[in-house]
Amino acid sequence: MADLLVLGIETTCDETAAAVVSRSPSGAGHILSNVIRSQIEDHSPYGGVVPEIAARAHVEMLDLVIAEAMRNAGIGFNDLAAIASAAGPGLIGGVIVGLTTAKALALASHRPLVAVNHLEAHALTARLTDGIAFPYLLLLVSGGHTQLLAVEDVGRYRRIGTTVDDAVGEAFDKVAKMLSLPYPGGPEVERQAALGDADRFSFPRPMFGRREPDFSLSGLKTAVRLEADRLAPLSEDDVADLCASFQAAVVDLICDRVRAGARHFRDLVGSAPTALVVAGGVGANAAIRVALQKTAAEIGTRIAVPPPALCTDNGAMIAWAGAERLSRGLTDSLSISPRARWPLDPASAGAKA
Ligand code: KG4
Ligand code: ZN
Repeated sequence: MADLLVLGIETTCDETAAAVVSRSPSGAGHILSNVIRSQIEDHSPYGGVVPEIAARAHVEMLDLVIAEAMRNAGIGFNDLAAIASAAGPGLIGGVIVGLTTAKALALASHRPLVAVNHLEAHALTARLTDGIAFPYLLLLVSGGHTQLLAVEDVGRYRRIGTTVDDAVGEAFDKVAKMLSLPYPGGPEVERQAALGDADRFSFPRPMFGRREPDFSLSGLKTAVRLEADRLAPLSEDDVADLCASFQAAVVDLICDRVRAGARHFRDLVGSAPTALVVAGGVGANAAIRVALQKTAAEIGTRIAVPPPALCTDNGAMIAWAGAERLSRGLTDSLSISPRARWPLDPASAGAKA
């Protein structure tokens, strides 16, 4: 059997992205091209992603991004085994643009379509970058999602814990906004935190020590807001110290929730995880990566965190998830619908984030 070459398309949020990835019969992955056109400049005047602007930018850019991904990979459509697109969850206008384009390409090039769950793509990226075997404990931390999952196979995800209010990335973005830091907030809060004193404020660590591996961020976010209001007008040092103290609280609570999640994993799956895998945009945060390395050692496993550019949204993760599904014979009909909501664990459908 030859390597599978798959084109992947990502348009669920504010990145227009396409990539070509190969998967060998033994499961080894290789990125041939990975093109991302960020819309940050389009959205920054509004301090967040504006869905209508995002959808229009995807329409304008996607054909060019795909052409560049194919050119960089040095292949033609005839060389592809399949065309994959994120079919949700995400901003529905953007998802429609990506999925419709993928359907048109699949039809025109007589290739199968693979409709990928964006969260599944984050979940499987560590198999592309680090060749991680199943089952593993996944910490998925992005702008819209904060979950601990047991990843048992392609398509087999069981949710262990989730946030009862905000996602971690959302909390970073909201703290950035209240401190008047530029959008996107997460990387900016991390930059400021590196300059500040993490011990100046002692912010709450909601849910710390609880047995159930769930998350809560809103009390921490409110505590930062109250402190910022009390100090206003804020000096540069105040902003840096608030960011550092906020990030320290996030690091503590994430590590504690992962420890609780590891205990649940063993009860649920019946064995230890092969690795602690971190996925989603917040995985780009260096302080969180370093702290989780220690936590992984404590729970007796290794850690796998894709490089920052593969933690945040990208086309390679969609192409790879498409290749993983294709290798198991999983393809989709051209009548498949885009989905704004699409939980990874159907048993937990309806719960927040
Ligand atoms: O996975 P992603 O690119 O998009 C979603 O699917 O949500 O994640 C974006 C989120 C944003 O909330 C962003 O602020 C956060 O990831 N993020 C970070 C960092 N880089 C991105 N949060 C903390 N530190 C970072 N360095
Ligand atoms: Zn994402």
